[in-house]
Order: sequence, then structure tokens, then C-alpha cells
Amino acid sequence: MNILIVYSHPGKKSYTFQVLEKLKSVIQKQNWNLEISDLYASNFQSDMSEQEYEREGFAKLELPISHDVLEEHKKIEKADCIIFLYPVWWSDCPAKLKGWFDRVYSVGYAYGQTENFPKMKTIPFGLVICTAGHPNAFLNEIGIAQSMEKIMIEDRLGKRFENKEMLVLGGTLELENVMEDHFLQLENSIEKIKKHFA
Ligand SMILES: Cc1cc2nc3c(=O)[nH]c(=O)nc-3n(C[C@H](O)[C@H](O)[C@H](O)COP(=O)(O)O)c2cc1C
Repeated sequence: MNILIVYSHPGKKSYTFQVLEKLKSVIQKQNWNLEISDLYASNFQSDMSEQEYEREGFAKLELPISHDVLEEHKKIEKADCIIFLYPVWWSDCPAKLKGWFDRVYSVGYAYGQTENFPKMKTIPFGLVICTAGHPNAFLNEIGIAQSMEKIMIEDRLGKRFENKEMLVLGGTLELENVMEDHFLQLENSIEKIKKHFA
């Protein structure tokens, strides 16, 4: 069982980093192989170059795909489950992760597929985990929870993933009230993945 975590947070003193550490310890107990794409630590390039835009915008499959993007493709091809972990910033993922989708979901591979071009495998399980300052009830009330889920689950994961879930770990402005419950939710999600692959 191979898990890939695509992690996007710049700070080691952050709560999102604590969530990553908790996830790692729960996953390690399962003896699964874990690979982490730490987008800030690796200084992942999130901006598209002009040539990459040419390739995407005009579906010029003959143009080369950058080395760092091909490395991400290799990780994707190995994965049985991909977990995206990030903090909610302005009702979305950090620009770093948005740039990962812009560049790694290259045309011919993740969409606009044709017969003679290697295409992205269908990933059996996708889990999106985000931390958010606002409590879940408020994010639901103002419709932001629903729009985040629509964009991440229906569009970005879309048909590329067979099973998909999103966990919004909200209320981080008052961590002491939510942390225990968040960690329980993380354990439950990993248990669900375990059952799925049993
Ligand atoms: C630039 C920025 C934008 C943010 N925007 C939102 C937001 O739109 N909605 C929200 O609930 N929380 C927002 N937050 C709060 C973060 O989601 C919160 O800090 C995160 O859950 C946990 O913080 P940490 O991992 O950085 O410690 C924002 C925080 C920052 C730094």
C-alpha cells in the first residue's frame, strides 16, 4: 500500500505541521509506504512558465514536460492513495498547491488525453485534509465549506480518483477546543482507508 501526501505549508511551528506529524505516526503504524511531496520544503515551482502555458493553453503535447513535474507524475503513478494536506487561505488552498495542480495536471496526462500519450492512472483513494481558522459550522453556514468541497473533490480530484473524501479541520483559532476531535477524525479517516483496501 503506497500513500503519497502532497503537503503545502511553509511553517514547522504551524498546526498543519502537527497534523502532518500525527498523520505520519498513524500511517507508520499501518506499515504502509509513505512518500511526501513537501511543496514548500522542496521549493516547488508553482508558477507556470511561458512554455508550459503554451503547452497547456494550446494542447501542444509535443512540447516537453518539466523534470520536476515528471517527478510528481512518477509519485502519482506509484500511489494507491493520495492525501492533500494544507491550511485554508482565503477560502482555498495555498497558491503553492494550486500551482501544483496547474503544472502537474498537464494536458495529455491528467486531462485532454489521447491514445499515444501516457495518461494518469485512476487513483483508488483521495483524501483532502485542510485546517481552517473558522469553525466548520460557520464555514457551512456561509457556503464556503461546500464551495471548497466542490472545487477540490469534484473538479481537482474529479474522475481521476475512484473514492474521494474531504476533511475540514475547522476552528483552529481555538485549538484547545478542537484538537482532540481533529486527531480522532484523522485516525477514523486512516481506518476508513485501511478498510477500503482490506
Ligand atoms: C493568509 C491566510 C489566510 C487565511 N484565510 C482563511 C480563510 O479564508 N478561512 C479560514 O477559515 N481560515 C483562514 N485562515 C486561517 C488558517 O486556515 C489557519 O491559520 C489554519 O487552519 C491553521 O493554521 P496553521 O497551520 O498556520 O497554524 C487564514 C490564514 C492565513 C495565514
